Amino acid sequence: MSPSGETAVIQLEKVWKIYQMGDVQVPALRGIDLEIERGEFLAIAGASGSGKSTMMNLIGCLDLPSKGKIRLDGTDIATLRESQVAQIRGQKIGFVFQQFNLIPTLTALENVMLPLEFQNVGTAGARARALELLKVVGLGDRVHHLPSQLSGGQQQRVAIARALAVNPDIILADEPTGNLDSKTGAFIMNVLSEIYRKDSKTIILVTHDFHLVKRAERIVYLNDGQIERIEYNNKARGGA
Ligand SMILES: Nc1ncnc2c1ncn2[C@@H]1O[C@H](COP(=O)(O)OP(=O)(O)O)[C@@H](O)[C@H]1O
Ligand SMILES: [Mg+2]
Repeated sequence: MSPSGETAVIQLEKVWKIYQMGDVQVPALRGIDLEIERGEFLAIAGASGSGKSTMMNLIGCLDLPSKGKIRLDGTDIATLRESQVAQIRGQKIGFVFQQFNLIPTLTALENVMLPLEFQNVGTAGARARALELLKVVGLGDRVHHLPSQLSGGQQQRVAIARALAVNPDIILADEPTGNLDSKTGAFIMNVLSEIYRKDSKTIILVTHDFHLVKRAERIVYLNDGQIERIEYNNKARGGA
């Protein structure tokens, strides 16, 4: 239980991740304990190789820990079948990646509609929702463009709209500004901060940019697979 008495949306308990490389074991995470509260804006910072993406993949149920427990809304994900994990992932979590990961042959609109095809909203409903979200990220006039016809910042905005499509509780963004210039990166951060303030979603941002981490309420610094320190920033909710 968190101090507020509510169950944390994500709980990591003594989490280890050890990658097996032939005969060599690579410990990427070494005993992480962390609780993330509903509606929190958390940043995970640390040098390259410190375990940030590994932690993100575990939180996003894309991978299982080697040791320890991960609970999502109180449920230990190791106890679920793969199909149940996939369903939870599809409904509760929206992903934003450094490389945008848009489907190159689909337009902006079709990319955002894609996750909705697995939901019960019908094509007209999916289209209306996708158009609305593309407007929210400022791309109402680019909906029929292919990813190759959009700038990096625009592609990342399409990816954010796609992540929001199913209205997930949690947004996971792994170095979302890593491939963008600093001005465009700041714009993307504004979009994420706005989502956090208006929609009270849980946002988990991975970055090694020390300017961007300041946007978060809490910053977890990883070093060599362990939590080195945690910082709090009370101004995050009000400030831009
Ligand atoms: N699939 C993998 N197989 C083996 N080692 C990996 C794999 N993914 C990551 N690692 C190693 O785990 C450590 C943490 O990696 P990662 O989580 O990607 O760090 P970060 O995102 O902070 O740069 C690194 O030493 C990396 O080389
Ligand atoms: Mg990484």
